[in-house]
Amino acid sequence: MTTHKLFLLPGDGIGPEVMAEVEKIIALMNERRGRPFEIEKGLVGGSAYDAHGVAISEDDMARALSADAVLMAAVGGPKWDGVPYDVRPESGLLRLRKDLGLFANLRPAICYPALADASSLKRELVEGLDMLIVRELTGGVYFGEPKEIVDLGGGQKRAIDTQVYDTSEIERIARVAFELARTRRGAVTSMEKRNVMKSGVLWNEVVTRVHRDEYADVSLSHMLADAGGMQIVRRPKQFDVILTDNLFGDLLSDIAAMLTGSLGILPSASLGAVDAATGSRRALYEPVHGSAPDIAGQGIANPVAMIASFAMGLRYSFGMIREADALEMAIAEVLESGVRTADVAAGGATASTAMMGDAVAKAFAAKLDAAG
Ligand code: NAD
Ligand code: IPM
Ligand code: MN
Repeated sequence: MTTHKLFLLPGDGIGPEVMAEVEKIIALMNERRGRPFEIEKGLVGGSAYDAHGVAISEDDMARALSADAVLMAAVGGPKWDGVPYDVRPESGLLRLRKDLGLFANLRPAICYPALADASSLKRELVEGLDMLIVRELTGGVYFGEPKEIVDLGGGQKRAIDTQVYDTSEIERIARVAFELARTRRGAVTSMEKRNVMKSGVLWNEVVTRVHRDEYADVSLSHMLADAGGMQIVRRPKQFDVILTDNLFGDLLSDIAAMLTGSLGILPSASLGAVDAATGSRRALYEPVHGSAPDIAGQGIANPVAMIASFAMGLRYSFGMIREADALEMAIAEVLESGVRTADVAAGGATASTAMMGDAVAKAFAAKLDAAG
């Protein structure tokens, strides 16, 4: 059997706490499925800055580049508020995305039936929700140049960020969204702001053309991103796949997270292009949430987003579809059984991070054993 190299980057804050729960799942698979995974660990974010003075070392970048998949938890926190911009914790994550070419970020918002009452929206609005945000991840205002603060003299400064998109960048992310829509309910909603941004005009034009020429079987609609945000909280179940840029995708996915009950639930997969020769692609799996400094160190973080991110890895990087299904079902069952961390407990009893992770691992083990 092939051994898959996993590179784990726990990061900062609650990062190491939720990563520990995924390690239990990996250990289980190694026990039960003939050691499919080999693990290496590295540092990213503030923890890397403390050790090396940068948000990710060249050694760890090399390890990430040679891994079959990277699992990363979260970076950042108030401890590093004063560090120079170029080495701030978040820059480690951005470098990983850029250097690994991870242009496609898949952020599924699925409302587990057990959590419909934990959402800030009414149960009937979110029950059965299953939408997917496809966020462009290596372009736009995150990476556009110039990006600087210029001293104008007289106590005045000017801050510049640049939103840039080329045709090819929009085409490739649009294709990802259309392809995924074909495997789901066949509907893509593209969100931009063509009413104020040139990049929105080009985005709309390119998505419309790719749709017309290659994906006429999928339905396509367009929304201005501000109205799209409103529609996500007004009637979320109208959406199948949302296709959007880097910054709007960041905002809209945090909004979508609350539909599912908590930011601690939403996983994501960041994928590169498929290599024509090997058929494989670079990938990094990460929760949508951050390092949650307000609850770090207390052992109460929800590990579901991190564990579900690994399930996405089983599906997208390793073709272990049955195992991915089993892990997602194990999460749903545990939530159903009433074991919940504080963020989704909705007044009921609360489980610690480790209790939640143990419960998922136990349910998952039972499914692996039953499948033989
Ligand atoms: P955050 O996502 O860390 O936290 C927002 C809120 O959600 C907090 O109240 C937090 O307690 C809660 N929350 C988040 N994850 C949770 C979980 N698993 N279980 C229970 N509750 C959870 O966002 P923030 O506070 O705005 O940012 C904190 C730091 O994290 C910043 O430095 C930011 O840049 C960084 N960040 C990193 C990533 C990443 O590494 N992928 C993503 C987002 C933010
Ligand atoms: C996310 C985060 C990151 C982003 C930060 C930490 C760089 O908010 O993954 O959603 O803005 O993309
Ligand atoms: Mn974000």
